[in-house]
Amino acid sequence: MDRLIDKAAEDIAAARSVTALTGAGVSIESGIPPFRGKGGLWEKIDPMEYAHIDAFRRDPEKVWQVLIKSMADVLGSARPNDAHFGLVRLEKMGKLKTVITQNVDGLHQAAGNTDVIEFHGSFARQCCTDCGKQCQSSEVNMDAIPPRCQCGGIYRPDCVFFGEMIPPDALLRSRAAAASCDVMLVMGTSAMVQPAAHMPVLARENGARIIEINPESTPLTGSVSDCFIPGSGGRIMNAILARLERLCGPVHE
Ligand code: OAD
Repeated sequence: MDRLIDKAAEDIAAARSVTALTGAGVSIESGIPPFRGKGGLWEKIDPMEYAHIDAFRRDPEKVWQVLIKSMADVLGSARPNDAHFGLVRLEKMGKLKTVITQNVDGLHQAAGNTDVIEFHGSFARQCCTDCGKQCQSSEVNMDAIPPRCQCGGIYRPDCVFFGEMIPPDALLRSRAAAASCDVMLVMGTSAMVQPAAHMPVLARENGARIIEINPESTPLTGSVSDCFIPGSGGRIMNAILARLERLCGPVHE
């Protein structure tokens, strides 16, 4: 394990530009359950019944009651953990340029990262399905479900449902960040959902080293990833940063 941490720190120290790709695993230590695996959301509810855009169009009230409201409740009280703060320290060292996240919880921004691409959108914003008006989720009156805009249209979270396209700007910027980095840090994602899981492939095709942090192996492990470090995001980030600070000097907060 020490050898893996040393190698990851050396790769990051030598890199001019690091991009991170994150998934639900980085927010587990903040109390937000993942989608897949033990205790995952898709173990409790069928994503095709509750997280597909056709399901929302068919019965928005049902999707609001079961999926959106319960997610909003969990996300509302969550705070960043050491995995998020580790990425902020990497940015302050001048190494990390961009975080591509599949998470809709806003915790990378809350921790302090400045360039965060929300690949699957955000739960922090709502959008009216009729007039297109956008607002902060905190401004939406949830007394009646589904909540409605002043125009009478139903609100939806500004996130990507299954069956929808990735916002073009997020996709283009992510591809550019993947293609231009020397190191990609892939943390807390099962790499099961495309096109997000293609970003490390793109990075590697363009010469980047791929460092993967996850307690479990994924389809990237041993093929796309150059270095797989088993363990939780917070603990491994702390270990890499301690080693990196010995190589590059301390981070100035
Ligand atoms: P998943 O729930 O598929 O995977 C979470 C990953 O986190 C797994 O590989 C776990 O092994 C890993 N993990 C668990 N604990 C961890 C820890 N403490 N530190 C680091 N990693 C840990 O989540 P995503 O890969 O993000 O899409 O899922 C991708 C997309 O599938 C989501 O964005 C969502 C979902 O359907 C949409 O909603 C469009």
